Amino acid sequence: MRTRILNALKEAKSFVSGEFLADNFGVSRTAVWKHIKELKRHGYDIESVTGNGYLLKSSPDVVSPEEILPNLHTKFIGRNIVYRETLDSTSTLAKKVAAEGAPDGTLVIAEEQGAGRGRLSRGWYSPKGEGLWFSLILRPKFLLPADAPKCTLVSSVAVIRAVKAFGLAAGIKWPNDILHDNRKLTGILTEMSAQTDGIDFIVVGIGINVNIAAGTFPKDIADIATSLRIMNGGKKISRAEFLANTLEEFENLYLTAQEKGFAPVFDEWRKNSATLGQRVNVIGVGSGETFSGVAADIDEDGALLVKTDDGTRKVLAGDVSIRRTEDAVSI
Ligand code: BTN
Repeated sequence: MRTRILNALKEAKSFVSGEFLADNFGVSRTAVWKHIKELKRHGYDIESVTGNGYLLKSSPDVVSPEEILPNLHTKFIGRNIVYRETLDSTSTLAKKVAAEGAPDGTLVIAEEQGAGRGRLSRGWYSPKGEGLWFSLILRPKFLLPADAPKCTLVSSVAVIRAVKAFGLAAGIKWPNDILHDNRKLTGILTEMSAQTDGIDFIVVGIGINVNIAAGTFPKDIADIATSLRIMNGGKKISRAEFLANTLEEFENLYLTAQEKGFAPVFDEWRKNSATLGQRVNVIGVGSGETFSGVAADIDEDGALLVKTDDGTRKVLAGDVSIRRTEDAVSI
């Protein structure tokens, strides 16, 4: 009800009477007034004038369902939203609600994360209101457990498409980092719960540095991270709009993969790759084994093919940390 009242105020762009809202939504004027009070508490600036009704003057910069849903044109991705102002990690909560039966496409999103998780047991800097910190729950009937890493590649292409839609440019470092000027804009963490016969659920956790200002990243990542705002000459970008764009692109690519297989998605990944053609160092995470070569291609599993002096080696996501040989640090 609150969302419907808010949408009515947004659409009207002028005063809307309490009586009109009450009649339209079949509730009492007192109920309308209570919802307005609640909206004000959530940061909506609503002017109330006796005789005129209510006027929405501004909305808060939040990624609540009220702000996301009016922008979002998807069939199932993000239709069910679990929203929190503060959370340890959206991926941790996503795994919990997925285990409890949350539907396919559920979006878990927070304004800030106290313990955001990155790959290889690293943390993820997730300051309040400055980025998109979210996780998607997927229940792909068309995939086998071994196919799960392919969803990471789908996610990175979706983010690249959204970046382009906002007039900016970025590349993908295999398998899952989105870079601009060799600085990290986005990280993706894919986790899975599976039985021998199939996937129970996949949680794709995506962290996008949206409005983090130049000079405000913590020291340890100051030289290796960037944000859309920095790429956009310091101008802020609407998080709700960027999210809607990313989710719509994700759904398009995911449905393409379901109908036609992953080949078209992988082709787009290749076109946007910052890794292919580069000399890379591959570091086995468990084994510590290292080797170097030239990143030649990705195969039909999304694995990286590295040409070494001894032939071509297949590198699977999750098993390795990979750095361009000229990179001083990895992130
Ligand atoms: C990486 O190491 O590059 C992956 C970072 C993934 C961060 C995102 S933020 C939203 C989701 N929740 C988490 O705890 N991690 C992922």
